[in-house]
Amino acid sequence: MLTITFANQKGGTTKTTTCVNLATALAMRGLKVLVIDMDSQATTSMILGPVSDEDTNTVYSVLINEIPLKNVIRKTRFENLFIAPSNILLASAEIELVPKVGREFMLKLSMSDLDNQFDFVLIDTAPSLGLLTINSLTASDYIIIPISCDILSFVGVKQLINTVNIVRKKLNPSLEILGVLLTRYDLRVRLSKEVERKTKEIFGDLLFPHYISENVKLREAPLQGKVIYEYAPNSRGARNYLEFANDFLKRVKKLTKNTKSN
Ligand SMILES: Nc1ncnc2c1ncn2[C@@H]1O[C@H](COP(=O)(O)OP(=O)(O)OP(=O)(O)O)[C@@H](O)[C@H]1O
Ligand SMILES: [Mg+2]
Repeated sequence: MLTITFANQKGGTTKTTTCVNLATALAMRGLKVLVIDMDSQATTSMILGPVSDEDTNTVYSVLINEIPLKNVIRKTRFENLFIAPSNILLASAEIELVPKVGREFMLKLSMSDLDNQFDFVLIDTAPSLGLLTINSLTASDYIIIPISCDILSFVGVKQLINTVNIVRKKLNPSLEILGVLLTRYDLRVRLSKEVERKTKEIFGDLLFPHYISENVKLREAPLQGKVIYEYAPNSRGARNYLEFANDFLKRVKKLTKNTKSN
């Protein structure tokens, strides 16, 4: 079982889109996947859920009432794909965690009896480097950083790398960056080239080989509560995320061959 956090403290860098569509792509290939929603905006839970605002059997209770994660895991409409959902109640967890002993380890501890039930655990995070994201990174083997080419989403990325280094030093020595994914790439837009150049400069080989294009279907799918393979299976966006799933699996395979267990 490998745990991977999607993080970028800048808002709207396609963390959720990437997490949800990668998770579904992996599940469609027969891999057993759990998605944990660590964002109180709860877009992931709306897409894979639904979950009501009053529901208390969520990640909030895991972190604050210290119930095992497995107690809140639910099936989704996709075979092999499961979710530990959140809703707006998670917003107060950031503050309620502060006085807790071992506050950075709450998610990791809650996962201790998952054993190897899943091939992959994918964690979607909020645009913040607060305690919820720190909990996600502490519980993870890898981080994936999505960078959206329509905004200057590499700004602040140094701070993110810094946070990864601090987590590695103090909380989780085995955390590594799995890769950086460029999304919303539009050849016709100069900003895309600029973001690509800067991102290559900062991350080099960590960049995944295929990019996700700017694609209207990817923008529309969450508004219908759908993943791209339901909403527009023949779209460029769908093809792009299937390609990314291949890149992801190749990279994981290469990295885990000698080091981490799978
Ligand atoms: N390839 C794409 N082409 C066009 N629009 C996209 C693409 N990918 C994502 N979007 C849209 O961009 C917006 C931001 O995406 P998303 O919600 O995944 O970002 P996020 O990083 O999770 O945001 P937040 O930081 O608020 O959690 C959404 O409206 C989404 O539908
Ligand atoms: Mg999001």
